[in-house]
Amino acid sequence: MILTFWWGLLVHGVLASSRCASPNATTYLRSESTRLMEFSTKVLKDVTLNECARTCSENTAVEQCLSFEYDSSILQCSHHSDDGQPFGASVLAKAVPSISFFQQICLLEEAICTAPYSFERYPQSILVGHSMHVINVDGLSDCLSKCALLRIFTCKSVMYYYETGECIMNRDTKFIFPNMFRQNVQDTLVDYFENNCADEISFTEL
Ligand SMILES: *[C@@H]1O[C@H](CO)[C@@H](O)[C@H](O)[C@H]1NC(C)=O
Repeated sequence: MILTFWWGLLVHGVLASSRCASPNATTYLRSESTRLMEFSTKVLKDVTLNECARTCSENTAVEQCLSFEYDSSILQCSHHSDDGQPFGASVLAKAVPSISFFQQICLLEEAICTAPYSFERYPQSILVGHSMHVINVDGLSDCLSKCALLRIFTCKSVMYYYETGECIMNRDTKFIFPNMFRQNVQDTLVDYFENNCADEISFTEL
């Protein structure tokens, strides 16, 4: 009886420690110069980005961290219990360049590298004319995992259309084709992402 009780607590504790269960693991999407229009649940000062991400991923019974902001100019980490749009209702706002917003996401374990975040997100943006591989997927996590694990070429950037589930993978990024990059795309819910693990993955493929 007592054993069952403690086992129950343990299982509950393990489940509560992360919302991403195997075969998935926790990583983040980074949005530059962005903050969440919500009060933070916890503020950590003088921490690295790695420590900030690690403490957010270690969800405890008293704190559910779903996203955070990191201010690199003052090494400040602010946890949030809210998701930013389009994952949750909380509104994202423009911030100074030193502040980035990190949204927690579950990707396949093998798709995640050691960097504190796997993808950089550019909301309502697209790279036109460079799609190399188009597939239909079951949600954003599926799209990003498939990009990270693509073997026919290194998927350096990817676009996801939330309404149609279209996942469009590119060999190149907006850095190489700045003229092909469009922001503030209207009438459709689409984000452009750059693979922050691409260098590491192409390196391990050698
Ligand atoms: C892993 O992530 C995928 C994509 O988000 C989801 O469909 C699946 O239910 C997750 N699996 C577990 C065990 O949480």
